[in-house]
Amino acid sequence: MKAIVVTDQAEGTAGMKLVERPEPQAAINDVVVQIYASGFVPTELAWPSTWTDRLDRDRTPSIPGHELAGVVTALGYGTTGLSVGQRVFGLSDWSRDGTLAEYVAIEARNLAPLPGDVDFTVGASLPISGLSAWQGLFEHGRLQAGQSVLAHGAAGAVGSMVTQLAREAGAYVIGTGRAADRQKALDFGAQAFVDLDNDVLEDVGGIDLVFDVIGGAIGKRSAGLIRAGGRLVSIVGPSEARPADGLAIDFVVECDRAQLGEIVQRVRDGRLRTNISNIAPLDDAVAAFNATERRPGKQIIRVRP
Ligand SMILES: NC(=O)c1ccc[n+]([C@@H]2O[C@H](COP(=O)([O-])OP(=O)(O)OC[C@H]3O[C@@H](n4cnc5c(N)ncnc54)[C@H](OP(=O)(O)O)[C@@H]3O)[C@@H](O)[C@H]2O)c1
Repeated sequence: MKAIVVTDQAEGTAGMKLVERPEPQAAINDVVVQIYASGFVPTELAWPSTWTDRLDRDRTPSIPGHELAGVVTALGYGTTGLSVGQRVFGLSDWSRDGTLAEYVAIEARNLAPLPGDVDFTVGASLPISGLSAWQGLFEHGRLQAGQSVLAHGAAGAVGSMVTQLAREAGAYVIGTGRAADRQKALDFGAQAFVDLDNDVLEDVGGIDLVFDVIGGAIGKRSAGLIRAGGRLVSIVGPSEARPADGLAIDFVVECDRAQLGEIVQRVRDGRLRTNISNIAPLDDAVAAFNATERRPGKQIIRVRP
């Protein structure tokens, strides 16, 4: 099968190569999925799990990409809830070969049914950004209607989902980002916008829930804005940002079939809009990932026409 591999962390996306790899086999609890569309988060080339397995052994050449939409072609022993020929989407294991390939072996629990009226490219754009937003807002952030949310990077992949889901839940949403992102963040439903390069972040006042996708100094300053009892949830690694009188939670997104179902249902009925910046075929994927222009949103690879 065709697959993109990486072998050298120092090379970043420039080191990606489209090569021939053996088709994966379904182990216990796995299914094999023929991939129609795949999602890739550029920062994953900095994650240790891209380079080593759980015992810290080198696993290169590794296939990056962890989001997929496709069709089940084989079932391993012990799989439940899925059948051959079924359309699915989901989130593959961080430390196994990923989804920038024609096939992937993936545990059945990491997949959900993809309704027939949802395009594969849309399905592949939802798992990481949709589940991160859902889990950060509702599980870790315990968001309640009427609370205020500071949605960092609101024109980005995760931030645009955070903005929409928080609005639907009855929150007041302040988005942040670059100056050029203002209109896009407002279009996704943010009621106010802070241009982090030109506005004063501290002017937003007391916040109930900060959703941090940026970290560093922005994360620290945001922690200072949190009201007593409020929360900061962060997906950008162990952060030093700590609210004075609240809770800080750093988390890594996990697959959840029921939550994927909730997310895709919202896409179908128009409550949630996905944020795809570009769709490229697998043959052009390496060039697409190395493009120099700024493309806020998700880059999706169409693996099978
Ligand atoms: N822990 C987890 O489970 C998890 C899950 C998903 C994502 N993540 C991480 O979360 C981060 C965001 O992911 P994403 O897919 O949403 O990325 P994205 O689509 O690039 O969105 C991030 C947005 O924030 C903006 N931004 C970043 N730094 C900024 C700054 N200093 N000032 C103003 N705007 C800034 C970006 O603009 P520019 O492009 O101009 O910088 C972009 O619009 C990534 O680091 C990713 O690895 C973690």
